[in-house]
Amino acid sequence: MQATHDILSDFILPPSITAPDGNFFTFTGMRVVVGSNPPPKFKVTKATKAEFPASDGQSVSYAVLQFPSGGMNPLHTHPHFAELLFLVQGSLEVGEVDTTGKLYAQTLQKEDMFLFPKGLVHYQYNSNAQYPAMALSAFGSASAGTVSIPTTLFTGGTSDDVLAKSLKTDVATIQKLKAGLAPPKP
Ligand code: GLV
Ligand code: MN
Repeated sequence: MQATHDILSDFILPPSITAPDGNFFTFTGMRVVVGSNPPPKFKVTKATKAEFPASDGQSVSYAVLQFPSGGMNPLHTHPHFAELLFLVQGSLEVGEVDTTGKLYAQTLQKEDMFLFPKGLVHYQYNSNAQYPAMALSAFGSASAGTVSIPTTLFTGGTSDDVLAKSLKTDVATIQKLKAGLAPPKP
């Protein structure tokens, strides 16, 4: 469980570290990402508490988002924090929907920033057929805390009947949607 109160010390040490030095505050895991070939599908590389323990309690973390042509980060939300995206390479379609159902969409150019407020459902999509895109996202939490909309709806265990009624459709349609989300058989 993430602490919801202010930390009471300069920083929080994991039990395995007793004498921290500069290395504790250094994360080198992005060296292999920045400048690498675009991955075959959307890929996120995080520096959150799990990968970078120094961020524990500091209300901040980063992720590098890589989008090949057509790559998409599907609809999701972060209930606990805002996200500030900086587009480093390429162009990127982004959008978010507020609590009244209004969509705020944008086509970002390299070096643009876009803010995703806490809790709003959002996506990112590289619709460019030729060029990959890469973005750096800052999160206002050391925990990634992502809620995927497709996963929450269709793989969370909610009954087909409730889903069909909620989405004003039939059970066959729900099962078709679920089948499309199932991991491919090995
Ligand atoms: C991007 O929106 C992410 O949350 O990784
Ligand atoms: Mn996000």
